[in-house]
Amino acid sequence: MTGFSADWLALREPHDVRARNPAVLNAVVASLAGNTAVRIVDLACGTGSTLRALSPRLPARQNWRLADNDLGLLARATATTHPAGVSVTAVPLDLNRDLEAVLDGPVDLITTSALLDLVSAAWLERLAVEIAARKIPIYAALSYDGRIELGPADPFDAAIIAAVNAHQRTDKGFGPSLGPAAASCAIARFESLGYSVVHGASDWVIGPDDRDIQMEIFAGWASAVRELGDLSLADTVGWLTRRRDAVAAGSSSICIGHVDVFAWPMGTR
Ligand SMILES: C[S@@+](CC[C@H](N)C(=O)[O-])C[C@H]1O[C@@H](n2cnc3c(N)ncnc32)[C@H](O)[C@@H]1O
Repeated sequence: MTGFSADWLALREPHDVRARNPAVLNAVVASLAGNTAVRIVDLACGTGSTLRALSPRLPARQNWRLADNDLGLLARATATTHPAGVSVTAVPLDLNRDLEAVLDGPVDLITTSALLDLVSAAWLERLAVEIAARKIPIYAALSYDGRIELGPADPFDAAIIAAVNAHQRTDKGFGPSLGPAAASCAIARFESLGYSVVHGASDWVIGPDDRDIQMEIFAGWASAVRELGDLSLADTVGWLTRRRDAVAAGSSSICIGHVDVFAWPMGTR
């Protein structure tokens, strides 16, 4: 599975659903409760997880524009049959190059999930300025914040986690990534632009029975660590082997820190 493959997104979606911060989600829902119809742009939609999480809680008439540069994921996102009143349009585009194009026209809410930790400080600044100019609220869920807790403890955990967090800051197509700093940067920037902000933890709490996602996470981290080259191959493989053994034995658990943010221009709610 690659970082954005449909298989990986399907594996993580139930964990994302459980993790979404209820207070932040409730604030988003409450902000749109008075509307008879809502127009939403979902940035980096993947297969449509934000649409599935949010749509049942919104007014019945909804227009979603789903933007992503992966045509395969976009096709999956728009293939589903939606309830009457919910219309969905695919917007194939590179958000790094053409962000502004997807913001044009009337928009009641921007959504995104698992995107902000991939983008650069410059791209976040561009997003913030563009949507503040249009006075649009934003719900940005599930930004990784650098916290990882693993059980049982392993002597190499700290070195692996440090390397994973260093890898998180490498370029994912938007310039050097904000990685773990993404949510705090977004909160500070929206507040400085006169937005009100609610935020809260949306951690993945992955138990011993969630073996498939644990295997994928550990394999992904080992590849990232190898890419950076900070640890020896022997140390990385040794750590991965011990982790896999613990998963197979049903004794492994992971907590991965995320943050959800809802920001809206003051006086518009
Ligand atoms: C971690 S996935 C999150 C997908 C979805 N929001 C979710 O939570 O399941 C990141 C998404 O960003 C998209 N993406 C990455 N770089 C992009 C770019 N430059 N333009 C548009 N989409 C991009 C990927 O195709 C992928 O769908």
